[in-house]
Amino acid sequence: MPTTKKASESQSHLTWIVQPEDLNMHGNLFGGRLLSLADKVAAMAAMRHSRRNCVTVSIDRVEFKAPIKQGFLLDCTARVHFTARTSMEIKVTAMGENPLTGDRKLVCEALFSFVALDGDDNPTEVPQIELESDEDRRLNAEGRARYEARKGTRIKKK
Ligand SMILES: CC(C)(COP(=O)(O)OP(=O)(O)OC[C@H]1O[C@@H](n2cnc3c(N)ncnc32)[C@H](O)[C@@H]1OP(=O)(O)O)[C@@H](O)C(=O)NCCC(=O)NCCS
Repeated sequence: MPTTKKASESQSHLTWIVQPEDLNMHGNLFGGRLLSLADKVAAMAAMRHSRRNCVTVSIDRVEFKAPIKQGFLLDCTARVHFTARTSMEIKVTAMGENPLTGDRKLVCEALFSFVALDGDDNPTEVPQIELESDEDRRLNAEGRARYEARKGTRIKKK
């Protein structure tokens, strides 16, 4: 198992065409459906980074920026930007695309935390992330601050 890994090595993508069963009562993609797809692409990045089974432990700062209609394409990208001992924070960016014109707009951004598990389903160490861009470095600093803040506010186990 490598001790470090580049963010680009685990970056993952998922593209979906918005279909009738994905819609809310306004005829746009339902937010819960989008989150489910975002969780899947984030899981792909977490597993590629750690080469372990991974579970979602929390979701932070979900922002829905614009609606997306039936027949449009949803293009989700997940990239790891922060690692601690067994956990990883991953940013998912979802773009909507009109397939007829190619016009694209930002639909949603969200931050997912995943934990890597060993064969007994216990949290296990992950490689540390190698940051490659200014955006990675900015998100890493913010992720570290969230990680430190969370330590003090975690709900105590019974
Ligand atoms: C993820 C899980 C294994 C962590 O178990 P735990 O007993 O809290 O383990 P620990 O206290 O040792 O924490 C393990 C890691 O999780 C991180 N963590 C725990 N709670 C967290 C939270 N709310 N947000 C972000 N990270 C969190 C810890 O910081 C630690 O990371 P580190 O090793 O990098 O410092 C456990 O909470 C679990 O199984 N949750 C359910 C996951 C699941 O089923 N998800 C699918 C959706 S239902």
